[in-house]
Amino acid sequence: MHNTTAHLAQLDAQHFIHPFTNSGELAAKGTRIIDRAEGIYIYDTQGQELIDGMAGLWCVNVGYSRQELVDAAMSQMQQLPYYNSFFQCTTPPAIALSEILSEVAPKHINNVFYCNSGSEANDTVLRMARHYWACQGLASKQVIISRHNAYHGSTVAGASLGGMSAMHKQGGLPIPGIEHIDQPYWFGEGFDRDPQVFGKQIALQLEAKIIALGEDKVAAFIAEPIQGAGGVIIPPATYWPEIKRICQQYNILLVCDEVICGFGRTGEWFGSEYFDVEADLMPIAKGLSSGYMPIGGVLTADRVAEVLKTKGGEFNHGFTYSGHPVAAAVALANVNILRNEGIVDKVKAEVGPYFQQQIRKLGDHPLIGEARGVGLLGAFELMADKTAHEFFPDKGRVGTLCRDLAIKNGIVMRHVGSTMVLSPPLVISCGQIDELFARIKLTFDEVAEKVLN
Ligand SMILES: Cc1ncc(COP(=O)(O)O)c(C=O)c1O
Repeated sequence: MHNTTAHLAQLDAQHFIHPFTNSGELAAKGTRIIDRAEGIYIYDTQGQELIDGMAGLWCVNVGYSRQELVDAAMSQMQQLPYYNSFFQCTTPPAIALSEILSEVAPKHINNVFYCNSGSEANDTVLRMARHYWACQGLASKQVIISRHNAYHGSTVAGASLGGMSAMHKQGGLPIPGIEHIDQPYWFGEGFDRDPQVFGKQIALQLEAKIIALGEDKVAAFIAEPIQGAGGVIIPPATYWPEIKRICQQYNILLVCDEVICGFGRTGEWFGSEYFDVEADLMPIAKGLSSGYMPIGGVLTADRVAEVLKTKGGEFNHGFTYSGHPVAAAVALANVNILRNEGIVDKVKAEVGPYFQQQIRKLGDHPLIGEARGVGLLGAFELMADKTAHEFFPDKGRVGTLCRDLAIKNGIVMRHVGSTMVLSPPLVISCGQIDELFARIKLTFDEVAEKVLN
């Protein structure tokens, strides 16, 4: 009885409260139960094969079914399933992972603080940035500036740092000490201007905000190099250089949230490198272990780490599972795969450019107002009238329709309003990209047939 799909779905509805889900709607529609995966494919209990165009939740960078990661977990569990890194203790996998991360991270970063997720990484960022200034006698530097429509996680600090209005509406967020400026979303919010002019104007909001608050009150600016959950929003080329200048000029920490962009997604190891930005703190998770184990961290630049290590006293922050040895062993094996198989270089030189070519081709489709991307990130703007730059009045409805038809056609794509986003495993081949885009084209044709006059 237990193994029939219908019965599992019934138990799920009875006992499982799902994240980011309307439980009533889910119970009415029934849930899809994924029970197996291989390479870039996932399989549900009814036998449907889907290309996982989202790499899970932007995280399965090396693809599914990598035996090395299974072996790493198993042998570490046999050797030492758990010990902590509090109270002058550590474990060999956590040390080895820290070393390899300092090798793959930009040169000015040689330290890491561990946690279990991207959200916890951003909670750590908030406390670490404030502590960094406090231990230099600048305790008034407390405010973190972020952006509307940013996503930095679901914990109280993560959701507050994020700029998702629906999240802020629940639970009285954001917490005090966090300010938001506009996002560099040219297609959606700056289409009346030249993209480069728009990029600079939006960046200058940071300067205006710092001046309004007072430089002595501001600890840091946080941003995803490319916004992922917000809809794969790629800033115009003028944006990041201006942000860099402002952070330096006003002496505030620059935090690049690398939870999605890190570990090869853009064709560089980190998204900040793609934009030639030197971050002071880089929250990481997801691709760090390719999602095989929960693990996150904050990569910490030398100038911050030195202050924390020499002037900080005790940093009263940490998690039971900070540097968990099994998670660390899996992450270590995962980074080794990314490095030894040249996966990041392949994204840059081979599969990334091919993927982007296919994305741009679909820009000609009557339904698509903009087709954009970097590396193995992609987005399509679904438009009611692309020539008149007219969005659908109910963006969520058309996005959901497209997402559902995509599943029928054998692909997982996610929708953010009426923006369809893609982030497949980095190990996808050019042949598989062809297969993916044939299914996307079919899906867009079917959506167009239903929604365009
Ligand atoms: C940029 C960014 N930061 C933080 C998070 C939160 O990570 P987690 O879900 O592991 O807490 C996410 C998750 O999507 C993310 O995209």
